[in-house]
Amino acid sequence: MSKASGASALWGGRFDRRPSPLMERLNASIDFDKRLWRHDLAGSRAHARMLAAAGILTADECAAILAGLDTIAGEIESGTFAFDPALEDVHLNIEQRLTDLVGEPGRRLHTARSRNDQVATDFKLFVRDAIDRADALLRPLQAILIDRAETEAATVMPGFTHLQAAQPVTLGHHLLAYVEMFGRDRERFADARRRLNECPLGAAALAGTGFAIDRHHTAAALGFERPTANSLDSVSDRDFALDYLSAAAIAAVHLSRLAEELVLWSTPQFGFVTIDEAYATGSSIMPQKRNPDAAELLRGKTGRVLGDLQALLVALKGLPLAYSKDMQEDKEPVFDAVDTLELGLEAAHGMIATARFDRPAMARAAGVGFTTATDLADWLVRVLGLPFRTAHGVAGRAVKEAEHRGCGLEELPLEVLQGLEPGVTQEVFEVLGVERSVASRTSLGGTAPARVREAAAAARARFLEAG
Ligand code: ARG
Repeated sequence: MSKASGASALWGGRFDRRPSPLMERLNASIDFDKRLWRHDLAGSRAHARMLAAAGILTADECAAILAGLDTIAGEIESGTFAFDPALEDVHLNIEQRLTDLVGEPGRRLHTARSRNDQVATDFKLFVRDAIDRADALLRPLQAILIDRAETEAATVMPGFTHLQAAQPVTLGHHLLAYVEMFGRDRERFADARRRLNECPLGAAALAGTGFAIDRHHTAAALGFERPTANSLDSVSDRDFALDYLSAAAIAAVHLSRLAEELVLWSTPQFGFVTIDEAYATGSSIMPQKRNPDAAELLRGKTGRVLGDLQALLVALKGLPLAYSKDMQEDKEPVFDAVDTLELGLEAAHGMIATARFDRPAMARAAGVGFTTATDLADWLVRVLGLPFRTAHGVAGRAVKEAEHRGCGLEELPLEVLQGLEPGVTQEVFEVLGVERSVASRTSLGGTAPARVREAAAAARARFLEAG
């Protein structure tokens, strides 16, 4: 085999033979890492300018390189760039094309640089963009949830624990719970961005370089806060990808939980919500079906994102310092998580924006399962001065009686309640309705409509107006 072409033309000085075709297939990452091309060009532009400023390249050489990189950008943009698997990865594909275009200056670009610091830089730039997009998608999702929470501030529905009817809550309150979750997700992404924002370029292969480079120059040009501190760490660190994947995994779990509620609530048995036809499908055999596929897919795709985090953790766990080729396996899980999360966030927004809530159905369900039993116990404490544990026992016996009679708590005759606790008066019935129950839950963070309206306004200020 000739050694005059392919990646070995760029690194093969000490080799007699080219890699086997099998090795080329195993080694090549171009099919997926071409996705980094914009970031690779940005890194190369910054590197070339820095080399020129440091007197390592002449101004003419730098100008030729920059012009060549622009040409390449145009070629990739227009789809005419021929990515070649024999050139392994995006870095060598671009470098080879640059040399084809501009000649010798192209062969000088790799001075004081290695693919190890190059790929770390490219990948950080990619992940940083992905973090910004995640925030830009989470924010409108919060906004639509807040909008709908405000409208549904007084919509009564059953609240569950153990998925058993627990106490009545308001739908607005329920929706705002997700606003909190997505708010924490945004914080996690912001935190990841802050920690990521150091530039590895200039670490070279692993040890730094003897050329008089200016790492602050490249760091600033690429929008990083500062250069990384340790060259070994610079080329072996993928924490930034793990940080992204961790934040993405948690956000995906939140999406999955929201999706699960929509799946549940849209069953005829619950009947709380109708998912818009735009996000549902029919069955090829059962004419009546209207399946919440979008929600199911959100729930299902969460598994991918969790797997993506796991895949990278496992790939990294045994690696000695510094760079190892295993690390080429870092990109596909991140790309997959990015695509999955972004699609999921958009779909969740669409589903929430178009969902139709059935207020009467929710209100009817809110009282099923003796959900105001706690209100009864609380009344016995507040009005009759019973110890809570005693009141709990009385209310429990009232539930048993209602269950026996097949009626609701509020339908029990007064005498029956008095048989359980002589002090009970007609007034007790005021707290047994679901509306009264939610209205009474006025503690900070509670489900009372008045609190929910305040909470929605506060969430708007915290999440949508700040920053
Ligand atoms: N394609 C490689 C990767 O993604 C680039 C770095 C290669 N470095 C090396 N020493 N072969 O990890």
